Amino acid sequence: MSATVVEVEKVEKMKNKPEDDQLGFGKYFTDHMFVMEYCDETGWGNPRISPYEPITLDPAAVIFHYGQTVFEGLKAYRTNDERILLFRPDMNMKRMNKSCERLSMPPIDEAEVLDYLKQLISLEKDWVPSSEGTSLYIRPFIIATEPFLGLAPSKQYKLVIILSPVGSYYPQGIQPVDIKVEEQYTRAVRGGTGMAKTAGNYCATFNAQSTASKQGFSQVLWLDAIEKKYIEEVGTSNVFFKVNGEVITPELTGSILPGITRMSVIEMLRSWGIPVSERKISIDEVYEYHQEGALEEVFCTGTAAVISPVGAFEWRGTSININDKQIGDVSRRLYDTLTGIQTGKIADPFHWTT
Ligand code: COI
Repeated sequence: MSATVVEVEKVEKMKNKPEDDQLGFGKYFTDHMFVMEYCDETGWGNPRISPYEPITLDPAAVIFHYGQTVFEGLKAYRTNDERILLFRPDMNMKRMNKSCERLSMPPIDEAEVLDYLKQLISLEKDWVPSSEGTSLYIRPFIIATEPFLGLAPSKQYKLVIILSPVGSYYPQGIQPVDIKVEEQYTRAVRGGTGMAKTAGNYCATFNAQSTASKQGFSQVLWLDAIEKKYIEEVGTSNVFFKVNGEVITPELTGSILPGITRMSVIEMLRSWGIPVSERKISIDEVYEYHQEGALEEVFCTGTAAVISPVGAFEWRGTSININDKQIGDVSRRLYDTLTGIQTGKIADPFHWTT
């Protein structure tokens, strides 16, 4: 079912657009945003596209005190024949509702919000960059806006969609990155909010991440919170290990974010006849594979990070080097196929793009 065409208030003066080589990640925002509100009595309503502008909230709004919020991340790509493609946006809508459920927030109508998102992108289509490795990053988010300090779910919310033209997330692009295995802090615990895309999961990573950055690492590898040995995620991405021809990725146990790129990579690998197993894998096991010479490739996957090969892990003073810090064949093939499908350069046998 198609949503109604939303009311649009256009900006008086459009911004100057950055050059593609200035983009980086998440620094520039387009001229307009989508907004709609929820209140307990009437549900979601008042959908509109308005100029990109600051949001005014009551200082007692629940978001400021108890962090009741969820977000999503997806991308729009410009094809050579000037079409704009979205990659599996229905999956982001579905995941947003899963996050809402975990955070005691009201569900959205997935098809309707996707339709609003498309209307916003249509209006902002000139902002979708075209150079290799660039895209328009789409950030839908919901915040709890009721002014109330009692500890209870908000009765009012705001859903906003903002758009940001981006280049690659890592300054190195697809060059392998060095990762530190984090043993002091953990990202999430089973039964917690790890599987939801909510702000607290991300700000909880800042201190470990900034220590790792000072030590020269791009990201940290998170271990499970209980036994402190099973691998969970790397920074903001899911992680895969190629061992003796088989690809292994940590199973989703509730503390790991169910990445849409993760799911797509598993489907691609299986379609190529490469065995994939989703199971527990410990850092000791990875170290043993490395010692035996069986650890062939490691790569991370995410909307922002795409396919990002790992060059080395630093673990208890030992450096676990992978594939001589070169991009492996499977990582390269995944990157080329995924970005080829996303940008319409190659056929999409999976019907992932819209
Ligand atoms: C994404 O890949 O969309 C993310 O959410 C990463 C972001 C936290 C930078």
